[in-house]
Amino acid sequence: MTLTNFAEAVAVITGGASGIGFATAQALHNRGAHVVLADINQQGLQQAEEQIRQHNPGGSSNVSSIPTDVTSEQQIQALMRQTVETYRRIDLVVTCAGIGSGGPIDLFTASEMQRMMNINFMGTYHCVQAALPAMRRQQSGHFVFLSSVAGKLGAPLLTGYCATKWAIRGFSSALRAELHCTGIGVTTVYPAWVETPMIHQEENAMQLLNVHALLTADQVAAEILQAVTEDQRDLTLAPNPDYCHNTQDHER
Ligand SMILES: NC(=O)c1ccc[n+]([C@@H]2O[C@H](COP(=O)([O-])OP(=O)(O)OC[C@H]3O[C@@H](n4cnc5c(N)ncnc54)[C@H](O)[C@@H]3O)[C@@H](O)[C@H]2O)c1
Repeated sequence: MTLTNFAEAVAVITGGASGIGFATAQALHNRGAHVVLADINQQGLQQAEEQIRQHNPGGSSNVSSIPTDVTSEQQIQALMRQTVETYRRIDLVVTCAGIGSGGPIDLFTASEMQRMMNINFMGTYHCVQAALPAMRRQQSGHFVFLSSVAGKLGAPLLTGYCATKWAIRGFSSALRAELHCTGIGVTTVYPAWVETPMIHQEENAMQLLNVHALLTADQVAAEILQAVTEDQRDLTLAPNPDYCHNTQDHER
């Protein structure tokens, strides 16, 4: 069943302390969703929770946060378990937790590659495994996975990052087919550069590439909510100086 109304919906957002995750959480909360923020950055998480609460003080929807390292299967299981104990359901899971690093392949170590795969891809996988039982019981729910344009194109100096984002693309495409007719939807998001802390990190490959972000996190969040209500499979967001140009495929 497509999630067309976010009022009273229960949403779990990883990477909710910053950037696209935070903006999506705020947009959902504004539309009446109960939002559970998860992030490894505990201080950022508290600030995000406070900011969302202050933004909509009279609202009836809740916001809470659970410190979570998405590389830990146990912590993700606990995150989803706590959400179900509190709200009895999970309607939406948005996986935004991620890191972006890179550089010349000669210098890109196995441990850096492994760490990025654990966060960007395995974090996504753990969320599916942990939330799926509740969604299957409900016979409804929706997953939104953050890939990237780097999950559609190969970019020099971003070999590892591209690999993690292509992994999300393959995984989500297969998952959507597997969940066909279960009432559970999957949307994969492929944004170009977005103005968030990620692209300003020191020694980040994005710095080497001299990236100019033309999308804002709020624009991406608005497009994500729209894509969920339309059960879109693929949301590709290319930059446009006026507003992000949505080149999403319309395959369902
Ligand atoms: N910013 C861009 O240009 C851009 C473009 C395309 C896709 N993306 C993707 O969007 C997602 C969100 O990125 P963003 O730009 O909002 O970045 P961001 O740095 O603002 O937010 C990422 C969040 O993930 C959290 N995080 C990192 N490791 C974690 C872990 N192990 N467990 C839990 N949380 C963890 C960070 O603490 C941070 O709050 C990422 O997957 C990123 O790859 C970003």
